[in-house]
Order: sequence, then C-alpha cells, then structure tokens
Amino acid sequence: MCGIVGYIGDKQAQEILMDGLSKLEYRGYDSAGIATLENGKILVKKKKGRLQNLSDCLELTPLNGKIGIGHTRWATHGIPSNVNSHPHCSLNNQIAVVHNGIIENYMDLKEELLALGHLFASDTDTEVIAHLLCELYNGDMVETLQTAMKKMKGSYALGILCSDEPEKIVVVRKDSPLIVGLGSGENFIASDIPAILKYTREVYLLDNGEIAILTKDTIVVLDANGEPVDKAVFHVDWDPGDAEKGGYDHFMMKEMTEQPKAMVDTLAGRLNTDGIRLDDINLDAETMKNINRIHIVACGTAYHAGMVGKFYFEKFARIAVETEAASEYRYKDPILDKKTLLIVVSQSGETADTLAAIRLAKEKGARVLAVTNVVGSSIAREADDVLYTNAGPEIAVASTKAYLTQVGCMLVLAMHLGQLNGEIISEEMKRLGHALLNTPELVQKAMESKEAVKTFAYQHFNINDLFFIGRGLDFYTCLEGSLKLKEISYIHSEAYAAGELKHGPIALIDDGTIVVAVCTQEKVFEKMLSNIKEVKARGAFVLAIVQEAHKGIASEVDEVFVIPNMDDDITPIPTVVYLQLLAYYLAVARGCDVDKPKNLAKSVTVE
Ligand code: F6R
Repeated sequence: MCGIVGYIGDKQAQEILMDGLSKLEYRGYDSAGIATLENGKILVKKKKGRLQNLSDCLELTPLNGKIGIGHTRWATHGIPSNVNSHPHCSLNNQIAVVHNGIIENYMDLKEELLALGHLFASDTDTEVIAHLLCELYNGDMVETLQTAMKKMKGSYALGILCSDEPEKIVVVRKDSPLIVGLGSGENFIASDIPAILKYTREVYLLDNGEIAILTKDTIVVLDANGEPVDKAVFHVDWDPGDAEKGGYDHFMMKEMTEQPKAMVDTLAGRLNTDGIRLDDINLDAETMKNINRIHIVACGTAYHAGMVGKFYFEKFARIAVETEAASEYRYKDPILDKKTLLIVVSQSGETADTLAAIRLAKEKGARVLAVTNVVGSSIAREADDVLYTNAGPEIAVASTKAYLTQVGCMLVLAMHLGQLNGEIISEEMKRLGHALLNTPELVQKAMESKEAVKTFAYQHFNINDLFFIGRGLDFYTCLEGSLKLKEISYIHSEAYAAGELKHGPIALIDDGTIVVAVCTQEKVFEKMLSNIKEVKARGAFVLAIVQEAHKGIASEVDEVFVIPNMDDDITPIPTVVYLQLLAYYLAVARGCDVDKPKNLAKSVTVE
C-alpha cells in the first residue's frame, strides 16, 4: 500500500525521488519522506500529509546526494505524523529504511532491542527494522539483511541505505511488490512501474525472498538461498503518458473516459465470428473435464466483477460457482481440491488477501486462473493461467476502467468455458459476441451522458444517504455503484437486491430519501416497478436507469437515465458508467479529493 522509490546514479536523487513519489501518491498519502546519502552521511526529510508538504520543505532546504530512497505512506502501525513517516533510521542515521508491508513480530523484536539499549522515536514496525539491521550489522549489509530476514515475520519490501556502504542500495522483497529499474550509469527501485516509467522501461521483477544490490553501474540479484540469480529483463510497454493526468482534473475522470478504448483492448483478438479464442490461457476441454467447481475470489470492486462472473459462468457454462471475498476465503476451510478452478480477479495483481487465496488453493492442488491488469504482478506470476484485462495503468484509487474490463473478461471466460463443455449453443454465442462488440460504443454513449449526471449530482449533493436497488445483474451493478459512492464522496450508501427491501431495509426509506433503481433486466422489470412503487409510497425520490424500451417509466419516478436498448446480459458494462459518474460528480460537488479519498490507498498489499 505504501509506495517506494529509490535512485542511484549521477543525477541529484531528490528530484527523481520526488518525481517518482508523485506517481506513487495513490499508494498512500498519509505522509512522505526521502533519504539521500552524501559524503558518507544519510540525510532525511519527511513530512506528515500530502507530498506537497514534503516538497515545500525541500524547497527551503534541499537534500543533495546522488543516492536516495523515498516513501509515501499509508499508515498501518502508528498514526500519520512526521515521526512515524519513512524513511526510518538507526542511531546517528547509520542505516535508513523504507518499507512496504507489516512486520508481524515487531513488538517482540522491539522488546529485545530495547533491552539492548536501542531507543525508538516512532510507533512503527519499520523503525524496528532499522534498529535490528544496526544491531546485527557486521560491515556487510547483504549478510546483515539475510540474518535479519530470519528474525522478521511478515511482509516486506525494503529499500536500505547504509552510510558505511555509501555506493549502494540494498533491497529485498517478501510478499510485498518491488521492482528494480535498469538504467545506463544509473539504477532505480520502485514498488510500482509508474514511479520509474519516465526513466526506464527495462525492469527486474523481484521474486519472494530475493535481494538486489544496486550500484550505479551494476545490479546483483540473490535468491532466497543467497545464490546469484540470472534475472530476465522485463520490458514494460506502457506509454509513460498513460500514467499522467493528461489535462483532466482527476485521474478518475481520465480513466472513465478511457473506458471505451479499454473495452476494445480487452476484447481484441479474443472474439471472432466462430466464438471465443483465448490463446493466452491453457484451459482446454480436457482440463475442464476434470473441473467440477469454480471459486471466484477477489476484494472490493474486483469482488463485484467476480459476482457478475458467477452469474455468467452459471448461465453460460452451467458450472457451479461460489464467489467469496478473499479476506474471508483465506481463513475459511473452503472445499478445494484438484477438481476446483480458482479464478482470482485483481486490478493491481498485488492484493495481499487475494494472493493468500491463490496460495491456499495451490496448496490443495486447485488450478488458478488470474484475471488481472498488471503484467508481471505477483498474482500474475503465481497463477497457472492469466487473462489480462488490458485496461492500461489505473492510478485513481476508485477503480473504474479496471472493473469494466474485468466484467468483460468474465463474460469472455464464461463463453469460453461454455464453448469447451458444449453448454453454450452457437446462436447464443453469436448473440453474446455481437453484444460484446457493441460495448465500447455503449460505454462511449454512457460517458456522453455526463452532463445529465452532473446536473443531477449538483442538485442533490447535500444528501446524507443514498440507496441503490436492482435485481439480477443490476444488483451487482448497484453494489459497485454504492462502493464507488462511499469511497469518494463519503455519502452513506447501501445496495440491496430489490426483492430484499421488504425484509428490513425499507424501514430506512423516508421522505426525500434518494433511491437509485437500476432496472435494465426485462425478466424482472415488472418486479422492479413494484419495488419502486413501494419506496415511492414511503416518500423516496427515485432515479431510475432503464433501457430505451422502458423510458415510459418516467411517469412513475422522479428522474430517469435512459440507456439504449441492448442485450440484457451486457447491461452491467454501460450501466455502471452512470453510477461511476454519479459518484464522481457528487464527490466533486462536495469538494472531496476524488483521486485521493481519505483513509484509502490503491493496491492493498497488507491484510
Ligand atoms: C474500489 C477499489 C478497491 C479494489 C480492491 C481490490 O474502487 O479499487 O475496492 O477493487 O482493493 O484491488 P485489486 O483489484 O487491485 O486486487
């Protein structure tokens, strides 16, 4: 969740570190800090709050030095404060550490170190690492780190500077992402690609337990046993502009606007007149004969895409599917064996709970397929098969284009499996294929409705609660709309399967309560109409979203957004765009920081 960046070369490190941190702020924005090494001395500046605070401070008193590490923090241990910010140092700044992850046994280690006379300034687990390294230091940071790793439990990506070894940065990765960027006469480290994309596209993706030692001209990587590894260079083919705001007020708006293209890229090469071709995965008919259940596991928005996936898999491939939040799944005793296919969904490919689900499933012999956006991410590397969403970098904390493309992948996968087991008939295949090919245009049309959504949002931004109701596929869209609204506008919101209203939630509907009724499913349209009447009778203000064929609903509700007529099975793709826009404009109207919602960070790499 925290962001890490590091530089070693001939340029002033401060500028590169600050630039890298500006690309990583979405990973945490409780505080930021950098350390540089100059003339054998480690110098540190760190500030609570947004990166701008650190930037202001560095403007007054810059840090020189051509080697440095930087960090942007999402607080886990210890409140956001100057003192709890990274880098953390041992006595006299001999060792400086930036850390992403959690040291689970830090209390025990801290007690041991206190007994040995170490004094601590912060409440963090990271400061314990700096002191532990200092206590164990034998003149060789790599050996020292290897000894420390035997004592530390938990997850960590670390960037380490040591004033006794002023020509190097030492880094390690265990269950938290870290990459090394290769330059000419300079090298980099980062928790995520965008931080260093401007400087290099050639990277090493560190594996668990690997240590890398960077000088300005060399990079040595050691495996978990301390043996040198010949790492393959991974070429990043993102356009650096993809990770920039490009004139938009917010990354979220930029990414919503990119959704039609993202859908095109998701479907490209996978859909043809005969059906689905998924050359990137090895799930063939023979393999599928041995699979008798599917589990879909993910977190947050990706979990909602997984719910849509369950609907599709059951409808088109007739396979029993269970969907579970990864944080629950990993601590249950799910029925898992080699006849299970676990499908994980993750934009970042680094979510800790989702990774844990993969490991659990693999232990039990299950096959794992990942639907993810980030090439080379931990989840992509640990899964047996990967279906990339191809949405391009997603920077805004609130996921939009990743969700849309995850839903697209779910439908494509369901069609593929239905094709393999013969459950899907060719007419249906054609119908869905045709419908899917229309989705980029439908998403574009939905985006063109943004002024109408904005007007609605600006009329109603002062609300305290908002309810979403829907049935079938619309219910999952409601869940996603409600999550989006909560996270960026801080408006309390609930999403209910509309049929559940009478079983309790209707008690919350009062005069003027806004209810967004998503009614795109023909099969249950009449039922939705009854549910709308029930909430109207209790005073609700209803905004309905319907297909063109049902625009007559206008006389029954207070406001309508009409989407073109389309195949009911693909409505989750354009419909959610309205809810994303609604969340966005309500948040903007309320003066919220859309791209950096409070308490949140992109990519949850700790439990
Ligand atoms: C919400 C959001 C989160 C993520 C969740 C999983 O807008 O982005 O709910 O969906 O943290 O993240 P990934 O998909 O990276 O595993």
